[in-house]
Order: sequence, then C-alpha cells, then structure tokens
Amino acid sequence: MEIKIVENTKEVVCDVLVVGKFIDKQTSNALLNRFAPENFTGKKGETFSIHTQKEYPSTYILGIGLGEEQNLDNNVIRENIAKAVKKCIELKAKTIAFDIETDLACGISIVIGTSLANYHFDKYKTKKEHRIAEIYLSNVLPESIEYAKTVADAVKLARNLANEPAQFATPAKLAEIAQGLDGINTVVYDEAKIRELGMGAYLAVAQGSVQPPKFIHMKYIPENPKKRIAIIGKGLCFDSGGLDIKPASSMLTMRDDMSGAACVLGVMKALGKLRPNIEVHGIIAACENMPSGSSYKPGDIVTAKNGKTIEVDNTDAEGRLTLADALCYACELGVDEVIDIATLTGACMVALGNAASGIMGNDEDFVKNIIQTGAYVGEKYWEMPMWQEYRDNMDSDIADMKNTGTRYGGASAAGMFLKEFVTENVKWAHLDVAGTAFLDKPFKEFSKGATGVGVRTLLSHIIA
Ligand code: BES
Ligand code: MG
Ligand code: ZN
Repeated sequence: MEIKIVENTKEVVCDVLVVGKFIDKQTSNALLNRFAPENFTGKKGETFSIHTQKEYPSTYILGIGLGEEQNLDNNVIRENIAKAVKKCIELKAKTIAFDIETDLACGISIVIGTSLANYHFDKYKTKKEHRIAEIYLSNVLPESIEYAKTVADAVKLARNLANEPAQFATPAKLAEIAQGLDGINTVVYDEAKIRELGMGAYLAVAQGSVQPPKFIHMKYIPENPKKRIAIIGKGLCFDSGGLDIKPASSMLTMRDDMSGAACVLGVMKALGKLRPNIEVHGIIAACENMPSGSSYKPGDIVTAKNGKTIEVDNTDAEGRLTLADALCYACELGVDEVIDIATLTGACMVALGNAASGIMGNDEDFVKNIIQTGAYVGEKYWEMPMWQEYRDNMDSDIADMKNTGTRYGGASAAGMFLKEFVTENVKWAHLDVAGTAFLDKPFKEFSKGATGVGVRTLLSHIIA
C-alpha cells in the first residue's frame, strides 16, 4: 500500500474520501453538510456512504463517526479508520483519501488502522482479496508516517509468518528470515551447539521432530546504548502436543504456536530500520513438538541451562521448556530487561478470551509500564497473579519441579515456572498471547487468523 502526503485531501481524485465526524460538534465541514444524510450523528462507529455522481473529485464520500471529540485517542481513530477501510473494500475502492478534522497527530493511527484492515492472508489463493492500493493524507509529519509504515510492516510480517502453514514456516525457515534482516546481526545455533550450551529442556521438546531445532539470536547493537533489552518469542513451529497428543480440534491452529517468535522477528526487522539507541537481542528457540519414536516422554527428567531439573509431567506443556532455556540464555547476556512473548496456555485464553493478553513479571513498575504502553497502542494486557501456591503445585518427587501443576490456574502456573529461569537482578515480563495471537473469526481491525499481537507494544516499549 502506497501512502501519499498531499496539500488537501479533499481535492484528490480518488475512489473514496473518508470524512470523520464528532457527535458533539457542529461540523463546519461543507462536505458533510452537503452529502451526509440527516440521521448521521457522528456516534462512534456509525458510517454512511454516498456516490457523489461526479459532483466531487472522489467517487464516494464515506462518513465515519468518531464519537465525542474529548474522548478521541489513538485507539478510537485506529479502530474506526479500520472500520471505514473495510467499508471502502466493500465498495471495491483502490484509492482512499482521509479528511479527519482533528488537532491530534492522527497520521500514525490512520496508517496503522488502514494497514491492519487491509490485511488478508491470501498468498495461497489463486483469486486474491480486494485491497486498497493507495491512501492520501494531509496535515501529517512525513517522519511519523515513515515510522507508522515501519510498524505496520512489522505487524504484517508477524501476521504472515504466524499464518504460514507449518510445512513452510519451519525452524530453519525462521532462521533464514532472521539472517536476512537488514541492520541486524544474527547467529543461529544448531542441535550440536544447543547441546553444548546445555539447553536440555529445549532439546527434549525438539527431539521428536524430523525438523531440526534452530536457536536464533538476532542482535541490534548501537554504539552507546541507553538500555539493553532481550525479547524472547516462543517458537513452536507446530505444537501437536507430542506424545500427550492434542485432540484434532485443538491441534488445528497450532501452526500459530510460533506467534511469539513471529512478533520478535517483526520487531527486529523494524529496529533495523528505526535504529534507536537501545540494544536489543531477539531470541527464538525454534522447534516442533511432535509424537514419534524419538519423542520425549511423560516422566522423563530434563536439565535446563541453569542446572535445574524438570520432570516432564505433560509433553504438551512444551513452550515453557523451550522458554526456560531461552530465558537462561537471555539473562546470561547481562541485559537490563527481558520480555518473553508466548502462546503459552489455553488457560490464559479461557480467562481473558481474545480481548486481552495475560502479563506477569518480577517488577511491579515494569509490568505496569508495559500494560500502559499496550493500552496506548491498542493492545490490552491483564496482570495475572504470581503466587507461591501455583508454584507449590509443580513440586516433583524426583526432580526440582514438574512442568505442569493442577488443571486450574494454568496461566499463573506457567508464569511461576518461567520465573525459575530468570535471574533476580533482571527485570522480566512474560506476555501470554494464547488468546490474542490468532482469531477464529474477524475481531475489531483484524481478519480471521494471525493478529501480530505484541509487535506494537514491544516496539513502543523499546523506542519510548
Ligand atoms: N500452545 C499451547 C497453548 C495454546 C492453547 C495456545 C490454545 C494457543 C491456543 C501450549 O503449548 C499448551 O499446549 N498448553 C497446555 C498446557 C497444559 C498441558 C498444562 C494447555 O494450555 O492446555
Ligand atoms: Mg503444548
Ligand atoms: Zn505450545
């Protein structure tokens, strides 16, 4: 999608001119006075469209309600722009101009809203979905539009990777993509090296698959960084459950179990362009969880990189085993902050649905800060408790811990498990995106499938 900045969007010859209206403001916009029907009030999400019959440079005028002006924020703009764009797509528009009367710097939200709504995973369809090809904006800063484009592209990469079938999006493929990122230095460790590094928990998960594991470490290292951060993405290219195999209906979408990794790849790609003065390490312990003669088994005991032993209680609780070793590795880098993002537990999905991701961590202010950043960019997080009770359920008779506790409270249990592999002097947050990474039906700005959740939060957190 091309973005053009023009003097006055009202004069652009295009398919649709999108015009915003506030419910509580008498509009001075001559266009609305001329084209809007009587009953168009400007209530949030309300729309109308009208063919201009050649009385105007645009073929259609599409009005979008933005609610009360004082309540306008990024989220209102992005969500409603996305709604308007979907209407434009229904009208088979190719080119859209935006006329949103506000002092708020809304260019970023318009670009991101449009890009999110314009996304379809139709790579494998011979007949492609209709898409918006060009948008026109005025009263925007070129730098902020460039930033928005970079963020939107990062989200798109994350969505494409998580939507991609597991037959193609293999650990080796993720490694190849990581190695091709501009401005990023990537090292990839294969099985022998992973063993040498002592990542016994991760290797156990990987050992049932014919796809070899790839430990991916992407580095963005500026000269005198203000801060050093590691971001870790769960990279289960497919999670069948292993020998504790999932029922068919639960396995169906498990190509999305690398959504955390996809997010980290998107973020690193954007960082290579944005080049902030922050050191960032993107880490992915990529593998598949498969049943086979070489699979790890319930009752096995594995040793993580920090020497802690784990009894495998359930081979389907594999993500935390791969993350355990990745967390140890990240902490050994001596960074100030570690954030992991993972489609970790069905329990988190049950608790929060697709409205919000779960968040846990070892530093109250750090967690609060990420929640606030998420709220600002339109990704919701809800803090789940980290109480000792959840950890007690994972005591093992024969090892330091088991990889699962009781059936209930699973999101918190997983968080307590991960905490065992985080060094205390490092600020750590864990984002459980099991419910938000992949949609079974369209929701808000998103079509069915991958959402690219986390990319906007992590980028904002890093850049801020
Ligand atoms: N990848 C799943 C979690 C998941 C479930 C992600 C639904 C997205 C949608 C994870 O590896 C898993 O299988 N977790 C188990 C843990 C259980 C065995 C303790 C779960 O949530 O059922
Ligand atoms: Mg699993
Ligand atoms: Zn999984």
